[in-house]
Parts: sequence; C-alpha cells; structure tokens
Amino acid sequence: MHIPVMLKEVLEALEIKQNGVYIDLTLGRAGHASAILKSIKNGRFIGFDKDIIAIEESQSRLEKINNNFNLIHCDFKYFRNELSKLGITEVDGIIADLGVSSPQLDSSDRGFSYSKNGFLDMRMDQGQSLKAWDIVNTWSKEKLVDIFINNADVKMPVRVANAIIENRPINSTLDLANVVKASLPARIVRQKNPGKTVFQAIRIAVNNELESLDIILKDSIEILKNNGILAIITFHSIEDRIVKKFFGNLIRSKIDPKLPIQEIREYKVKTLYPTKKEISNNKRSRSAKLRVLKKVKESFNE
Ligand SMILES: C[S@@+](CC[C@H](N)C(=O)[O-])C[C@H]1O[C@@H](n2cnc3c(N)ncnc32)[C@H](O)[C@@H]1O
Repeated sequence: MHIPVMLKEVLEALEIKQNGVYIDLTLGRAGHASAILKSIKNGRFIGFDKDIIAIEESQSRLEKINNNFNLIHCDFKYFRNELSKLGITEVDGIIADLGVSSPQLDSSDRGFSYSKNGFLDMRMDQGQSLKAWDIVNTWSKEKLVDIFINNADVKMPVRVANAIIENRPINSTLDLANVVKASLPARIVRQKNPGKTVFQAIRIAVNNELESLDIILKDSIEILKNNGILAIITFHSIEDRIVKKFFGNLIRSKIDPKLPIQEIREYKVKTLYPTKKEISNNKRSRSAKLRVLKKVKESFNE
C-alpha cells in the first residue's frame, strides 16, 4: 500500500480552489490525487505517470470520486505538450511527489529494492528498453563512477564500479547488493547499507530522473497562473538540491534593463517537513521535504 506523504501539508499548500485546474505529475496510487479531486467541484484534474499500472489502478480509484479528470501515461517531462493537446494552457496548482511508489519498491519483479530478490529492472515505464541490467553489465567504469557521484553520493565510487565490472554478469538485485557490500570496508557497510545509494544512482540513470526534473521545474513556472502554486516533495539530497537551487535562482533573478520588454515576476517559497507523528506512522516520509513556490505577480512593461 502507498500512504501519501505530507498529504495535509500538500493540500494546504496548494490552496485548492473548487473551480481550479490541478496537475499531479506523479500519480502513483492516486493518494494525493484522490484528495485533490475530492476538493475540486467544477474544476479539472490531470494526472501523469509513466508506470501503466499506476495509471490503471488510479483510474478505477478516481472514477469512484467523480469524472472531472484525465490520466495521461507518459514521462512527466512532456506534461506541457500533453496539456496543450487538452486545450489547457495555464493551471492553478501542480504537485510532484518524486521517486518511486511503495508498490514499485515492494514488487520484487520490478527490481527497485536492494533487499528483495528480483531481476535488475528498475524501469518506471515498463515499455522502455534501458533496464538496470544494461547499466550494471555494459556501462564503462567512467560512466558508472559518474552516476555514482552525480546521482547519489555513493561512497568509494571507483571501488564499487571496479567490483561491479569484475563480477559481471550480475543478474539479480541481491547479487548486486552483495557485490557492492563485499567491495567496501566493513566500517562503511556498518554505517549504512551501501546498496541504498548504489540502487538510487542506477534507478535515477535508468529513468533519466534528473533531466525530467529540470524540465518540469522550468515548464511549471511558465504554465502556472498568477497566484498558481507548485509543490514538490523530494526524498534525497540530489533532487532536493536541484529544486532548492531552481527556486533560489527565481527569487534572486533580476530584470535585465537592456531588454525592451520586461517581465517582472515575484515568487514566494517555503519548505515544510513531515511531523514526528507522520514519520512514526510512515517510515517512507522520514526523508521527505516539501518545497512550495507561489507565483505571486507577473507584469510586462514596454
Ligand atoms: C512517490 S510516487 C507518487 C505517489 C502518489 N503521490 C500517491 O500518493 O499515490 C511517484 C510516482 O511517480 C512516477 N514517476 C516518477 N518519475 C516520473 C516521470 N519522470 N514521469 C512520469 N511518472 C513518473 C512513478 O512511476 C511513481 O508512480
């Protein structure tokens, strides 16, 4: 089961209007989506996911609430284009709850978990050809080290990459987890299971997660109405850094006096954390951070 993370905070942050247009870029099992759909009476809700099971299960869950929604099976980096196909050019609120869902992590055959045995898959979109197996068994040492550093702060990345290459072929999640553990000094393995960061790095590469995140940040700003709100839940420092930097640059951005047409936008941002109670009820929420941005003003001067 997937328990929606920081649900109350997300609903409050989005300041939902009954006739508003709301977008969920990461539908999952429609946890946030169900609550949003219940709150809009004559508005519209559009949900995206690149996992077809998430779309199918959410469809039947949301139909029980009302029919004011469309679900779209694609990478969220295409959301703006998909919305324009529906005639939607501006929206009141966007939620993105990044990463993998509990059902994805819990099904051993999806290959996301370093503690459940399964084939090295890790694809969110089951129609995609690149799998974790291809990265683990065919990528060069340089490419492996690069994703270990850039996607997850893997400790001793060169050592881990060498061990993977020496032990090829590696077919299953537990085999990979064991190769990683055996490659590192006992003191590092004792601190934290090293499988966590290595699996994170590979999963991000398989699903091209950071590129998609960059795109949705830029496109969300363009498509939000005045007073529109973007809420993003991150689960690790790499993606959180990207969101934090993007929001920070927007707040600091200065108007270029050389431009004939000037665009003045102002943004308000805030960061929220799960309560202790939520963390004790739902372990998955412990690393969550909710960053909220409100586009408060936009004007054009000649
Ligand atoms: C953490 S779960 C969302 C859970 C959801 N908020 C709920 O309460 O049920 C993240 C979901 O986003 C999807 N996802 C992640 N990255 C995506 C992307 N680039 N494009 C489309 N879907 C994506 C995953 O397949 C997964 O179902």
